[in-house]
Amino acid sequence: MDSKKVKELDAKYMGVFKRYDVVFERGYGSTLVDKEGKKYIDFFAGISVNALGYNNTEVNIAAVKQIKKFMHLSNVFYCEEQVKLAKLICDSSFGKKVFFANTGAEANEAALKLAKKWGMVHKNGAHKIVTFTNSFHGRTIATLTATGQEKFHGILNKKYPGITYAKFNDINDVASKIDDETCAVLVEPIQAEGGVFTPENDFLKKLRQLCDKLGVLLIFDEVQTGMGRTGYMFAYEKYGVTPDAMTVAKAIGGGLPLSALVAGEKIMDVFEPGDHGTTMGGNPVACAAGNVVFSTVMKKPFLKAVHAKGGLIQKTMRTVKSSNIVEIRGAGLLQGVQLKSGGAEIVKKALSRGLIINCTGHEVIRIAPPLNITTAELKKGLEILGKILEEGC
Ligand SMILES: Cc1ncc(COP(=O)(O)O)c(C=O)c1O
Repeated sequence: MDSKKVKELDAKYMGVFKRYDVVFERGYGSTLVDKEGKKYIDFFAGISVNALGYNNTEVNIAAVKQIKKFMHLSNVFYCEEQVKLAKLICDSSFGKKVFFANTGAEANEAALKLAKKWGMVHKNGAHKIVTFTNSFHGRTIATLTATGQEKFHGILNKKYPGITYAKFNDINDVASKIDDETCAVLVEPIQAEGGVFTPENDFLKKLRQLCDKLGVLLIFDEVQTGMGRTGYMFAYEKYGVTPDAMTVAKAIGGGLPLSALVAGEKIMDVFEPGDHGTTMGGNPVACAAGNVVFSTVMKKPFLKAVHAKGGLIQKTMRTVKSSNIVEIRGAGLLQGVQLKSGGAEIVKKALSRGLIINCTGHEVIRIAPPLNITTAELKKGLEILGKILEEGC
């Protein structure tokens, strides 16, 4: 099918996304190729998903091997790839038990439900959740309400009850939002969709202390920051703070739908049979891919390289002569270039010059390529971006 036909047929897809004017045919490494054969360097990775890039041989082999056995059974049966991945996650984190789902929103739903059950059983029926302004947690009714950005609440005529928002990086504000009915605080270690905002002044450590003092669970949404994105396997390690639970998604399936709720000792046995479930979550093929992604990314040299590439981005972007750049912030391969204005135009221009990039909240150009992007590809992409910014769009 040619790109014109694909665009025509897109009229049949509900118009919830504004599509970019390009139809991709295939990918390899950190490069995508469109229907007309034009190549693009990818600084987007399908919104921080394609951790090992496109057409990765090891991921493909593992997925195909599992496809040939069976693609799906049911979670009423044991699943070898699933238990292997659960062990890998628990052995490499604070986690003691894992629940698998398909998407970030589903993992967060499971986390909210688990926190509420914990509150019901262990804290006098406490059910309220504190999240943060400018956060992003998903598109289901509960996770959308948890998302502290009004612009996403437009069609929520009735919000999910019991969620209040505190200011990120403001521990006194968090303290003022917690009461006896609060069971948990849900936070992204770095607010990625909100514009790559990082925690300041030991905020996460103070949050841990506050939650301990007030007897409230601390849950990290590591949907975007987990799986090596920050140069650490999980961002909680970077900030030296252990949550009671975390959610992981996006990169964990290497491009296949997979997410996980990881619970520490305190809450690992809160769910009992029947409390929660999923038909597709923890699909054997996705878990087979997940095992390859996890065991590749967790290796120290791999994470060190992610950290170094993050340093290269910061260093290179700081040499760009543009009065439009306010700040460059982030960790590892999750970097944000804060602009004064014109983010959408820059994204369009970049696409026309063979660079895929996006603009998140507050005019922030997000740089989040596959974690195994080569230094050469990274430099080439940064050169394109730098030139566009210097031209002054
Ligand atoms: C931090 C965070 N949590 C949750 C989500 C929702 O994930 P999904 O779109 O897979 O439901 C996202 C998606 O961007 C995210 O960045």
